[in-house]
Amino acid sequence: MKILVINGPNINMLGIREPGIYGTQDYMSLRKLLEDTGKELGITVEEYQSNHEGDIVDRIQHAYRRYDGIVINPAAYTHTSVAILDALKAVGIPTVEVHISDVSAREDFRQISYVRQYCVKTISGLGIEGYRQAILFLKDLVEPGSK
Ligand code: DQA
Repeated sequence: MKILVINGPNINMLGIREPGIYGTQDYMSLRKLLEDTGKELGITVEEYQSNHEGDIVDRIQHAYRRYDGIVINPAAYTHTSVAILDALKAVGIPTVEVHISDVSAREDFRQISYVRQYCVKTISGLGIEGYRQAILFLKDLVEPGSK
């Protein structure tokens, strides 16, 4: 089983950016958590981060028939990008939306999520642990009953 984790703009600045909102664990800690989760579950977890909307669309298109699940934190593009939603719909891969912060408790402009219309689940406000929960959820969805 192969899972692709996609992170949008400024996620590479974790640990530096607004630690009161996003915590003190840095981007390398997130990458390590993804690697450890993959090892623990015996699956392949690949991570991709970009600050550019079109590059994220390209990466989703490239995932077609190559991955069993996608975990996506589109970051600010969550609230603006129809293109990312359309790309997810186009490839038809089960996808979980993750946010490090609790977006529901934040500004009005963060209450819209375009990708949510396609995603099978949204995990928000659990810090980087949310990515682990998303991978566990996809594993169970794609390979039910397996350990
Ligand atoms: C975020 C929430 C977004 O509103 C914000 O633009 C981000 C990160 C989160 O993980 O909490 O960059 O997606």
